[in-house]
Amino acid sequence: MPVLRDIGVLATCRSPGGQGEIHTIPGAALAWRDGKIRWAGPQDELPAEYATEEPWDARGRLVVPGLVDCHTHLCFAGWRADEFEGRILGRSYLEIAEAGGGILSTVRATREASEAELLGRARAFLARMVQLGVTTVEGKSGYGLSIDEELKQLRVYARLAEEGPARVVPTLLAAHMVPPEYSEDREAYVRLIIDELIPRVAEQGLARCCDVFVEESAFTRREARLILEAGRAGGLLPKLHADQLTDGGGARLAAEVGAVSADHLEGISDDGVQALADAGVVAVSLPIATLYLNQRPIPARRLIDVGVPVAVATDFNPGSAPSYHLPFAMTLACNLQRMTPAEVLKGATLYAARAVGMEDRVGSLEPGKAADFAVIDSPSVDHWMYHFQPNACVLTVVGGSAAAGDLRTAD
Ligand code: NIG
Ligand code: FE
Repeated sequence: MPVLRDIGVLATCRSPGGQGEIHTIPGAALAWRDGKIRWAGPQDELPAEYATEEPWDARGRLVVPGLVDCHTHLCFAGWRADEFEGRILGRSYLEIAEAGGGILSTVRATREASEAELLGRARAFLARMVQLGVTTVEGKSGYGLSIDEELKQLRVYARLAEEGPARVVPTLLAAHMVPPEYSEDREAYVRLIIDELIPRVAEQGLARCCDVFVEESAFTRREARLILEAGRAGGLLPKLHADQLTDGGGARLAAEVGAVSADHLEGISDDGVQALADAGVVAVSLPIATLYLNQRPIPARRLIDVGVPVAVATDFNPGSAPSYHLPFAMTLACNLQRMTPAEVLKGATLYAARAVGMEDRVGSLEPGKAADFAVIDSPSVDHWMYHFQPNACVLTVVGGSAAAGDLRTAD
């Protein structure tokens, strides 16, 4: 297998230390075999057994672990550009939803779309994400809101995972909204998820995680707990959309159910911050959604100060975050959330992997983990996030094979 040489800076993003410790190695080399990292270190210490391998020349560029987008709603039909002007002029996300727009309008469009149409769209988005250096993408259902329609979305993710090259982590988000058919009997919808949908998803192996949108306009904490416990019994890791529009005690619930992550959290209370710290839950920040919904940013500094790992993801969806550009979210996380570039990088790699239960396989460059990495045309992590470009990634590698780009790209 090849050896990547002449790496200007290798940010390994190994686990030890805090959020800002990304364990960089200047003048590095990286060796892999059978899709897994075998060695990472200073080039002049490259073991003899790799010295004769085919050299790939990074030409002094930055190399980072493949980025992990740990929160997306990638599979959807239609767009919602018609809501954009209203939101800019001050219409709230909730007012739009109450007038028949919002999530339920995407539910209508997604139900009408065929599985093949959804697959084609999501595949095209995913290909562009890979070009940006993203190698693992979590994708949620939640625009089907019935047994058949939720399974349809999850099958799209299963196909994408099979096709590769990106690793796709599917999440069941049937509890995104109560569908109109159940507006008079929400309890029946919760029972449907628990008694029928989760067992089928578990039996078919169609999801890794189970998510619930906990919000006044969506699901209560009591409902979320029942759904997440049923998910856990079916082997699905619990996650929450929590405290996004209001502080609904979502972070505390995430801690109580032992969630792998609590996401959004713009409205998190001080108690919630401490609860996440005590329980070791990853806080997933979604700065594109914060920006588009004109919200107060997540208190990232407070979270980091008490030891909560803060991940950074896109939340890509047609409403609150209509962009799959994770490097854009990363630069926003620096500026809006006051996270340093090093902190953001650990948040979009190792901690993002933790947020989807994949930390043992991806998210850092160290022996035994997948050879998933991105070669970035930048002299440093700071420079990369400071000088925001349409795409600074020249090569994306998944499982040791080139997935997008080319190292020979001119500087
Ligand atoms: O993460 N908060 C709820 N769900 C999504 C938005 C989905 C949509 O607007 O279609 C979110 O922001
Ligand atoms: Fe979301």
